[in-house]
Amino acid sequence: MKNIDANGHVRGESLFIDDILTKQHTLHAAVLASEIGHAKDLKIDISRAKQFPGVEKILLASDIPGENEIGGILLDEPLLAENEIHFQGQPLAVIIAETEFIAKQARKLIKVTFCMLPVITSAKQAKQQGQFINDARSFYLGDVSASFANCKYVYEDETFSNGQEHLYLETQGAYAEKMENGCIKIMSSTQGPTVVQRIAARVLGLAMHKIEVDVTRLGGGFGGKEDQATPWAVMVALACNHLNRPVKLILDRHDDLKMTGKRHPYESQFKIGLDENYKIMALEIEFLQNSGAAADLSPAIAERTLFHATNSYFIPNVKTTVHSCKTNLPPNTAFRGFGGPQGMYVIESAIAKAANHLNIPAWHIQHANLLQDNDTFSYGQIAQQVKAKDTWDQLQGNINIKSIQDFVNVFNDYNIETKKGMAMMPICFGISFTNTPMNHARALVHIYQDGSVGISTGAVEMGQSVNTKMLQVAAQTFSIDPDLIKLETTNTTRVANTSPSAASATADLNGKALLKACNALVERLKHVAADVLVAGVDTIELKDGWVVVNQVKSDLDWKELVFKAFWQRVCLTENGHYATPTIKFDKSKEKGHPFAYHVYGIALITTTVDCLRGTYKIDSIDIVHDFGKSMNIGVDLGQVEGALAQGIGWMTMEEVAYNDEGRLLSNTLSTYKIPDVFSIAEDINIEALETEGHDLAIFKSKAVGEPPLMYGIGVYFAIQNAIKAFNPNYKLKFHSPMTPEKVMMGLYEK
Ligand code: MTE
Ligand code: HPA
Ligand code: MOS
Repeated sequence: MKNIDANGHVRGESLFIDDILTKQHTLHAAVLASEIGHAKDLKIDISRAKQFPGVEKILLASDIPGENEIGGILLDEPLLAENEIHFQGQPLAVIIAETEFIAKQARKLIKVTFCMLPVITSAKQAKQQGQFINDARSFYLGDVSASFANCKYVYEDETFSNGQEHLYLETQGAYAEKMENGCIKIMSSTQGPTVVQRIAARVLGLAMHKIEVDVTRLGGGFGGKEDQATPWAVMVALACNHLNRPVKLILDRHDDLKMTGKRHPYESQFKIGLDENYKIMALEIEFLQNSGAAADLSPAIAERTLFHATNSYFIPNVKTTVHSCKTNLPPNTAFRGFGGPQGMYVIESAIAKAANHLNIPAWHIQHANLLQDNDTFSYGQIAQQVKAKDTWDQLQGNINIKSIQDFVNVFNDYNIETKKGMAMMPICFGISFTNTPMNHARALVHIYQDGSVGISTGAVEMGQSVNTKMLQVAAQTFSIDPDLIKLETTNTTRVANTSPSAASATADLNGKALLKACNALVERLKHVAADVLVAGVDTIELKDGWVVVNQVKSDLDWKELVFKAFWQRVCLTENGHYATPTIKFDKSKEKGHPFAYHVYGIALITTTVDCLRGTYKIDSIDIVHDFGKSMNIGVDLGQVEGALAQGIGWMTMEEVAYNDEGRLLSNTLSTYKIPDVFSIAEDINIEALETEGHDLAIFKSKAVGEPPLMYGIGVYFAIQNAIKAFNPNYKLKFHSPMTPEKVMMGLYEK
């Protein structure tokens, strides 16, 4: 089935926040953000701006009737700064005016004074000064120090992986209007409608039932709208509450880049120990996460870093520690992979380091250590239905890995100005919110008396095509034409207390809830059919729009059946609730079974480096990916391609840069380069692993949103291998992204 949004998107008919037809008397907002990174004694003088014709109101912290607090995990982030400033881009005031232009003109007239304080921009600096978001966490397995003493080979080094800008096509935005009885309706471009509802209620001092949040779709979220869509939605709600007029706020790209957090940069140190057979016996890593100025989702992201610090490998002795370091950058946030990629980059660096010293390809070590059934993860979960070797073997069956390595080696022997590099990148990603209580969802299904169907779930459509998958669940369960089914907007009044659409788990959680609701309705309808056709309920099936009795088509079709049920006063509405079984995690022991299942895969990457220019291209990427039993291979392949591009961008060219004052230097699309069609491999082959899928996945079709991003990590190492082939003096570096500048320096380093 095609993405149900395809036609609307191509014709430009799909609705995003900025397409909503605003009501008469709608006001427009602009946000004044801090220009400095750290200060106290903040004073904001709005006297001149207030006079500007067309300005209705300028909201300050003092205008907040409830709590000036938007923190989710920790209560450490004001909506609007009060006395202190903690990062450049921190919202100070919201200007509400007749037009966006007026609001932005008036913004320039606001005078801000303060007393400057020293700025911290790196995680290491923060650690030295004891600046942390919360307590460090560590996972332990086996006995690391004893094991290192017995290892034949031990290597240590440091790594750095940079942040990443989400660059969703649709910038952050929201629209709010007042309903009767003091209620407010917010349309938001958010992954977390309930997050917006909860925080808006808190800031406005209202009960949650007074706030309705509605989401049609997002022009991309990528994690950047899991938590950070909230402030803008709360600001319009606040303004709307004050002025009794609809208010709209859309950040322009520049404001969005400046005011929102990104993927967390990590500075880390590793120590890896191997035995004589290249078995990794011990791993110790200290991760320093650059969390930014407030917690946001950092503690949860730090946790996922620990969960993925051993990637697809079994390592019997592990000690990993993560510090969430408080700096004066915008609070960093969720980004596809949610700390997992940062964890996996370090173990891959450690393997690359070992391989370099042992003078063998890294993939020998990777292969020797692949996870197998009944191995234990450092967090105590026993690995089951592991597909690490299966994906590797299927790829090896298609392309002889050694022959590619030989080809690269021979090419490098005979070429001077260009060198090739290859790398393998296995992935293993845990599916479930790491915070176990978040793993639940609901779906509300109405069958209307004419046989058409309306579906509401907690799932937010952000381009990942979850709505298409939801429609498939209903169409298949009812066995009716998909055209009879409509996906409603995601709305907190219809489906309440939702977890954000995130963790790649949206289709699993909401799909399973929807399946339960549909199954309950099918049962009910079967009873009606049995009654009408005077047959046993067990003999009835719904098939292709018809009632089938004992495998024989009757003359009762879906529409007539529904109509009869309606007249028999049968309830044609059902609410399904699903909570993932089997998962648990004990934080006091840091042990448990946090993931419903894992997604596996393998990529083989070859690159060519131009050794005169320092430029490179990716020749080919061959992937065998564990989709389970894909319920929509077109959608799922699209997710792999998109995630791969994003992973390649993170690892090779996207360079988030702040200066020492915490000012974002890469604050336009001319200074922040993201991958385009030319940056991707000339030849990409993505093959599905032949497998039966997993019972905890919807229709056995495994979650696909985030895992493939991590294939991009292999590109870093493939390029590095090419540099190594050119320059024997080159010392391996683990400092991503691998920009052409870095390649150039590496090629000619002495
Ligand atoms: N694909 C598109 N087109 N747009 C997005 O914003 N977000 C990614 C991924 N794929 C995203 C996307 C992220 S970060 C996640 S967690 C998942 O989709 C969320 O959706 P899912 O749970 O339905 O996979
Ligand atoms: N993934 C994504 N988002 C989340 C998670 C997670 O594991 N936990 C809380 N928010
Ligand atoms: Mo995705 S980072 O879990 O929104």
